[in-house]
Amino acid sequence: MCGILGYIGKEAKLSLFLDGLSRLEYRGYDSCGVVGIKDRKLFIQKRPGKIHELRRELRDFINEKFPVGIFHTRWATHGKPNEVNAHPHTDCKQQIAIVHNGIVENYLKLKQELIKEGHKFVSETDTEVIAHLIEKFYKKSLEDAVSKAIKKLKGSFALGVISKNEPEKLIAVRKGSPLIIGLGKNGNFIASDIPAILPFAKEVVYLKDEEMAVIKKESIEIFHFKGSPVKLEIEKVKIKPEDAEKNNFAHFMLKEIHEQPEVLRKILSLYDNKNAIHFPQINLSEDFFKHLKNVFIAACGTAYHAGYVAKYFLEAYCGLDVELDASSEFRYRRLNITKNDLLITISQSGETADTLAAIRDIKERGIKVLSICNVIGSTLAKESDGIIFTHAGPEIGVASTKAYTAQIMTLILLCLYIARMRSSISAQEMRNALKELSLIPGYQKEILAKESEIKKIAKEFSKFGCFLFLGRGINYPSALEGALKLKEISYIPAEGYPAGEMKHGPIALIDEYRGVVCIAPKDFLYEKMISNMQEIKARKGKILAIVNYGDNEAERLSDAVIRMPKLKNQNFSPLLVAVGLQLFAYYVAKNLGHDIDQPRNLAKSVTVE
Ligand code: M6R
Repeated sequence: MCGILGYIGKEAKLSLFLDGLSRLEYRGYDSCGVVGIKDRKLFIQKRPGKIHELRRELRDFINEKFPVGIFHTRWATHGKPNEVNAHPHTDCKQQIAIVHNGIVENYLKLKQELIKEGHKFVSETDTEVIAHLIEKFYKKSLEDAVSKAIKKLKGSFALGVISKNEPEKLIAVRKGSPLIIGLGKNGNFIASDIPAILPFAKEVVYLKDEEMAVIKKESIEIFHFKGSPVKLEIEKVKIKPEDAEKNNFAHFMLKEIHEQPEVLRKILSLYDNKNAIHFPQINLSEDFFKHLKNVFIAACGTAYHAGYVAKYFLEAYCGLDVELDASSEFRYRRLNITKNDLLITISQSGETADTLAAIRDIKERGIKVLSICNVIGSTLAKESDGIIFTHAGPEIGVASTKAYTAQIMTLILLCLYIARMRSSISAQEMRNALKELSLIPGYQKEILAKESEIKKIAKEFSKFGCFLFLGRGINYPSALEGALKLKEISYIPAEGYPAGEMKHGPIALIDEYRGVVCIAPKDFLYEKMISNMQEIKARKGKILAIVNYGDNEAERLSDAVIRMPKLKNQNFSPLLVAVGLQLFAYYVAKNLGHDIDQPRNLAKSVTVE
């Protein structure tokens, strides 16, 4: 959940790396710090708050050049987000500095042992034990000391380590938390994610789990934790620097909302091969899908909601029973999964700790795992049997938007693919579905064109202190996602409910001070949704309804509406509903003056349990 950036090479200005670190700020932003080595001395600056505040503090040093440095942006786990707990952390003699992403689970025991041995701790963090452990083992070689120290650690850690005694080396370590090595013209880099190094490096090496790298200005050596050397697998960076910029948008979230039509077009162009769906890395045979018994889906947050939409699809189109769980629950269930079953996981980052834990246990039992993931080179992509990339490009806003609709589109295609293999839909039905899916990007654009209308509605509704989001059938997950979007960036309590459950409790909340968002497309459950809206109206609840064009009945019952095109196959409507609800949440949060791209307490990539 923290962001790491490191550099070794031709001397380069501090300001460049602060820019790079800012592109990792989505991973955590409660405190930050830098350490560089100059004239065999550590230069350290840390502070609570965001990187722009560190930049302000460093204004006299911004053009300072260092041949080696490590940088960190933190999401606190152990210890408050203050200056002392911010990374980098050092040993007693201030000769070694480290930055860390992850959790050292046995840090208390290690800390007590190290204190008994005379080490002096200054912070409340788990990370500081690593610096002291390295100090304990340090003789002449930094890599030897790091390699001994990490053997004592339990938990997950991506590390960047430097020592003033060996300024020609940058050590990188990966266990459980992601870390890449960038190869640049003027030096080599380490980073938690590619956006940080986009202007500097065109090639990368994805460090694998339990690997350590000794990086110098002109060389990179990788070793397995057990000591054996590892061959460098160099890959080209496929993302362009502008993909990780806001361009002319006020926020990454708004930019990403607007990117959705293009993303969905791209997914269709990659996987719809003249009415035959083709997934190049699915790695599961037709025979496997024909004999498939049950499907299990595990994911977190927004990805879980995309999984919920897929559950309805797989049941309706493929005749499969589907169990859906939040990964944090799935990993602790004792399930009777067999080799004829499939686990599907969904994750934008591919680094979510609970989702990775879910697949590891299942894979040990010989059960196949197919993952839907956005980040190429992520741990999830590497560890799954089959992978389908969502190709949404970097998603930097903490609130997930384009990744969600990209996941839904990819999952719909997967359902159609499985359905054809099991002959549960005809070739004509598949063609019809693909034809209608090809119209979705255009329809999304129609909703995006209503941005100023939605902005006005959001202004009106941002006065409510609590929201209910109601949907039925395939739009029940849309209600869950709409509520999540609103609460994570506006901090207004919001609950997503199946509309049919309203009378079993949530109706007690409704009065003239509550906003109720009713998702009411004209599908087979429409009449029931209208009855729910009548019930809300009778209790003076304020209704914002998501309706199809020309739906006078729903409009009459509503205080405000977001209109969307009516689809022949209303099962695809979550792809449209999402856009309206994302814009609504965005403008409510904007109206309340919140930090939309970096909401409080959250981080984009949840790499700890
Ligand atoms: O990277 P993942 O898709 O695995 O992340 C899952 C959730 O952490 C993520 O969707 C989170 O809920 C977002 N903040 C939602 O907007």
